[in-house]
Amino acid sequence: MAKVKKVYACTACGGTQARWAGKCPDCGAWDTLEEHTIDRGADRDPHKGLVEGWANTIAGVDQEGVGGAIAGAPRAAPIDEVAPDPSSAARISTGIGEFDRVLGSGEHGAGLVPGSAVLIGGEPGIGKSTLLMQAAAGWASVVDPKKGPDWSRKVLYVTSEESAEQVQQRAHRLGVSGEPNLYVLADTNLARIIEQVRQLKPAVLIIDSIQMIYKADLDASPGSVSQLRRCAAELVYLAKASGTAVLLVGHVTKEGQLAGPRVLEHLVDAVLYFEGDRFHAGRIVRAVKNRYGTTLELGIFEMGGQGLVPVADGGGASFDDDETRSGSVVCPVIHGSRCVLVEIQALTATGFLGAAKRKSSGLDTNRLAMLIAVLEQHAGLRLADRDIFASAVGGVRVVEPASDLALLLAIAGAHYRRAVEPRTVVIGEVGLGGEVRPVSQIEQRLREAARLGAKRAIVPQMRGAVKVDGLEVVSVKSVDRAIERIT
Ligand code: TYD
Ligand code: MG
Repeated sequence: MAKVKKVYACTACGGTQARWAGKCPDCGAWDTLEEHTIDRGADRDPHKGLVEGWANTIAGVDQEGVGGAIAGAPRAAPIDEVAPDPSSAARISTGIGEFDRVLGSGEHGAGLVPGSAVLIGGEPGIGKSTLLMQAAAGWASVVDPKKGPDWSRKVLYVTSEESAEQVQQRAHRLGVSGEPNLYVLADTNLARIIEQVRQLKPAVLIIDSIQMIYKADLDASPGSVSQLRRCAAELVYLAKASGTAVLLVGHVTKEGQLAGPRVLEHLVDAVLYFEGDRFHAGRIVRAVKNRYGTTLELGIFEMGGQGLVPVADGGGASFDDDETRSGSVVCPVIHGSRCVLVEIQALTATGFLGAAKRKSSGLDTNRLAMLIAVLEQHAGLRLADRDIFASAVGGVRVVEPASDLALLLAIAGAHYRRAVEPRTVVIGEVGLGGEVRPVSQIEQRLREAARLGAKRAIVPQMRGAVKVDGLEVVSVKSVDRAIERIT
């Protein structure tokens, strides 16, 4: 970080003082001291030593796209002559489809972009180390058809929290063994880690976790914001300079911070969050930022005895029986390229007028408040003294406006103790005027619903009729028409 120092210079004699004074101590003139800032770090490149070291040693590692930039200062170039972006190189696949898709996909397949820096945040104990060990085994075994067997397929797993034996034990438990390209290093000193990377030239470097890594020449203790930022910045630079993809693991607390990965988000190319409830098997990995892909994709896993098992069909709701429950409505929600059926539940209970509770989990609270207002104004429900709880089942967060009508019918159903007909899905955005608005990708949603056993769909009125075999499509114009459909 640049060190900025303030000095006070006299406009009469030019002398500088550390403190402001009314009278210049050097020449005795009055009111001539002016504040100036001196940026001592401005022309000092914090990575200079690192760069010089790298320029000679990384020759053997894939340098496409970054080669020119290392030797000297970057030069401006006409836009068509800019060196190719690393994302145009072949991506390194983990072989775990659910994880690759979240890392991003392009014309060169899905997975990790060489030379990119990815931060993976999550609460302690959620399974980050498990996911990364499984991914590391996948990366280490990947065969890159374009580059042949010479291309570095080594993966270095740096553990700063556990011993190398513990990592080995976990790997064995996960069925990872006999993988000659997978290396483990137990260290917390950044300089030593970088030295190992320099010797090994891995294609992928995993740091688990960044919070325990320290740089010896910084005063701050490991885990402090300045250590965290500095170490992460150097590792990101290492990724760019060497073409090694770097994954940083960061713990977050329930509140999502505490000197945590939040301060690192702007440094890296992609930020993934690994979420789930420690007491349930379901785990979700999603991107909140991704320079090499969409942030809409979700990877869904289940934690089992042999580690994380991908759940390819989304693990959402399905229609196994003809049972109905008041306050429960199924909505097909789009996540990236996939449609997942999500059960939305609501419960109303007696509350106090003026202090009624409105709580939601996995849903947008503002949207909930708006829908309650729409129900009061346009459908005549009296909810002012009712506590209302709503949730999206299965740990998926639903923020799409297309789920409005499903949530609204769940609340109305809970209030009247009625339910939609069995095997029904509900789609639609609700406007403030009580109208039901069309949503995008309606056909994809209906097809997926029909595939998973839905017989009926309540949808907004649309211009062209959508026909899906075996699915009765009921279109509604307003929320009161939709509420008539709950019996
Ligand atoms: P871990 O990956 O160590 O979490 P993190 O790195 O995010 O702190 O794993 C956390 C939990 O997962 C741990 O309590 C044990 C459980 N677990 C399984 O249920 N099955 C497994 O195969 C493994 C390796 C772990
Ligand atoms: Mg861990």
